Amino acid sequence: MEREIVVTGDGSKTIQIKDWNEQYHSKHGAIQEAYHVFIKNGLELFENQGLSILEIGFGTGLNAFITLLEAPNRELRVRYTGVEAYPVLKTEIGQLNYVEELAAMEHRKEFEKLHSCTWEENTFITPNFSLLKSQKDFKEIQNSAEFDLIYFDAFGARVQPELWTVEIFQKMFRALKNKGVLVTYAAKGSVRRAMQEVGFQVERLPGPPGKREMLRARKL
Ligand SMILES: C[S@@+](CC[C@H](N)C(=O)[O-])C[C@H]1O[C@@H](n2cnc3c(N)ncnc32)[C@H](O)[C@@H]1O
Repeated sequence: MEREIVVTGDGSKTIQIKDWNEQYHSKHGAIQEAYHVFIKNGLELFENQGLSILEIGFGTGLNAFITLLEAPNRELRVRYTGVEAYPVLKTEIGQLNYVEELAAMEHRKEFEKLHSCTWEENTFITPNFSLLKSQKDFKEIQNSAEFDLIYFDAFGARVQPELWTVEIFQKMFRALKNKGVLVTYAAKGSVRRAMQEVGFQVERLPGPPGKREMLRARKL
């Protein structure tokens, strides 16, 4: 499918799938959304510990990069797994402006390494942040009680309803440790009900600018 780089409301870029009229991030602000959904309502629940994170849709690496930047503030040693079926191309990565927009020039090498490191191999990007990129379909995920936190960042149910089902959330529930947390930008009632059906306790939280609500699910 044809992909194009577009600028979002906060000046950070994202990728758009033209045929679907769907973007990798909110059109109101890619960085703004990533911080609100995944950092403020996910990562910031944890402190001073080893933390195992699963990202559903590694894509541009924005969530991984922001997590790498924020982890030291909370004294976290992160083991990050990013699942992605259709990796972003080198030419597309070169057009993204996350290093500049985050004023993280001294971390440019780390952003590049997130993308250049070998798939299916655990790589230390910094001493306190390792990354395993796995190229596969979300439906193939078979982990059990491995993760503390899941960033569920699939395309919306409008275009990929098959990724917001009981079957997928069962896999997510299984992949989490007890007391694990899943965060997502989505807030649809059908998504919340699918999460509840597999055993998650679900909260509706205020969404990022442009979106009324988002969901956070806990495995208690
Ligand atoms: C909304 S984008 C988010 C990407 C990423 N979190 C980011 O910040 O750039 C969803 C991602 O899921 C990937 N994807 C879509 N369907 C998939 C599937 N069935 N299995 C694995 N990855 C998939 C897409 O290629 C895309 O990178």
